[in-house]
Amino acid sequence: MVKVAIHEFAPAAEIDDAQAMEQFQKQWRTYQKLVDSDALSHREVAAQLHAALRTVETSFSILDIACGDAGEIKHVLADTKVSHYHGIDLSEPALELAARNLEDCPFQVDLDHGDYVEMVERRPDPADIAWCGLSIHHLKTDRKRDLLTALRKTTDRFVMIYEPTLKEGETRDGYLERFGTVNRPAWTFLTDEEWRQISNHVTQCDLPETAETWLALGREAGFAKATEIFHDRTDFYSIYRYDV
Ligand SMILES: C[S@@+](CC[C@H](N)C(=O)[O-])C[C@H]1O[C@@H](n2cnc3c(N)ncnc32)[C@H](O)[C@@H]1O
Repeated sequence: MVKVAIHEFAPAAEIDDAQAMEQFQKQWRTYQKLVDSDALSHREVAAQLHAALRTVETSFSILDIACGDAGEIKHVLADTKVSHYHGIDLSEPALELAARNLEDCPFQVDLDHGDYVEMVERRPDPADIAWCGLSIHHLKTDRKRDLLTALRKTTDRFVMIYEPTLKEGETRDGYLERFGTVNRPAWTFLTDEEWRQISNHVTQCDLPETAETWLALGREAGFAKATEIFHDRTDFYSIYRYDV
């Protein structure tokens, strides 16, 4: 059995905090409910990423920014020419799950515990492809551009991201209102407490952009081509692809 090691880049205090761990487990269970019920279109997103990776005909390395528990990526990478998978996440418990999920994969696996912004900007580790599912939207617009610029310098083929997207002309407040109006009645599998967790997180942390801005950020970062390749059925998220 191949054991996957987690490289440490975060202060140990964060990891030992039992309360933080409990909080993580609660929030992760709720997030997992959204993934399992496909409320965030993870299945179609996995299919899109898999299709893109299948077109790469030579062996490749992939950086997974905010990899979480790597539960989906294992299947996405099956039947591709991946030779090296590098996941980064701030959450130690998520990485422990990722290590288990990726045990015995027939390619090299590195998992780094730390802040992806710092790691991508300060410790550039080149990869052929970079992927991020649902995390870059926590950054302010300028920081999104900085991160994409750093990725442009360290990625040899393409970057793909799946992120919340404002409708054209929609404000963040309008997005938050739409999020509640559409999703609260649709997500019947969440308890009131779980809904509050998600709703608080989205209200406090999410900084979605319009498709136009996501594409412009990629071009400003120096990518030759920026394309919206998928818009999810719920009208909240899109995949953007940036080619070097
Ligand atoms: C919504 S989950 C997405 C997980 C997975 N990529 C997916 O698509 O299902 C967001 C992940 O981003 C991680 N995260 C958030 N900010 C981060 C940061 N600055 N550095 C590293 N990981 C971060 C969280 O720990 C969490 O695992």
